[in-house]
Amino acid sequence: MFERKPMVAGNWKMNLNLNGAVELVKTVADGIRGVEGVDVLVAPPFTHMAHVRKAIGNSKIFLSGQNMHWEASGAYTGEISGRMLQEATCTHVILGHSERRLIFGETSENIDLKVKAATFLGLIPIVCIGETLEQREADQTFEVIKEQLDLSLHNFKADELMRPSTILAYEPVWAIGTGRTATPGQAQEVHRFIREWIEKNFNTGTAAQVRILYGGSVKPENIVDLMSKPDIDGALVGGASLKGDSFAQIIRYNEA
Ligand code: 13P
Repeated sequence: MFERKPMVAGNWKMNLNLNGAVELVKTVADGIRGVEGVDVLVAPPFTHMAHVRKAIGNSKIFLSGQNMHWEASGAYTGEISGRMLQEATCTHVILGHSERRLIFGETSENIDLKVKAATFLGLIPIVCIGETLEQREADQTFEVIKEQLDLSLHNFKADELMRPSTILAYEPVWAIGTGRTATPGQAQEVHRFIREWIEKNFNTGTAAQVRILYGGSVKPENIVDLMSKPDIDGALVGGASLKGDSFAQIIRYNEA
């Protein structure tokens, strides 16, 4: 069986002042010294990126954008391109987070364009999908996930190629910032479904290699159980990534 390297990613969203971000990443770097076998990533606000990079120093922490535009440049006030993220030393970009979809009206078609642009540049997209509470209660979870995958990865499907480095993140909207985590069983069920979707649309090798992260109220208390599931390859952490010790504890889950 293919061994997928786990990843723990911190999505800082629109939080932390500059000083707070720099101090946080230093605490994380200290807290994960000696950790091997887990990829660590942080997604700071754009304006903090250069300072966070400097504070990371030699530690192995990947930098990610929280969003980008699909065009390379132009009259798009308020937007940032993938190339700009790369110039800021980002290797990854979170795309299609539910807050982008629900608060800012991003559609799966927009996300598809972004995924294509990021991949073209060699930026690794972390593509988020997930159902709302209403959809879960109406038994529409799998239908919604399938549609989000079909539309957000439409260009991959058209090219019949999905890079195995692509990362997907299952984030049930009802579990984000609510303290209400999906049970490991509920998460595993959807992760399995996503992996089968990759297998169906691409091939077994790609399905075996793509990492699928879980996001939604992940904390030191629930990470071990979540990571015990075969199709959960890591976590996309919001609130608990804003404190150096809880984030480091999540990253060190396999020492618990
Ligand atoms: P919380 O961990 O705060 O629930 O946020 C999850 C999330 O949205 C990560 O992208």
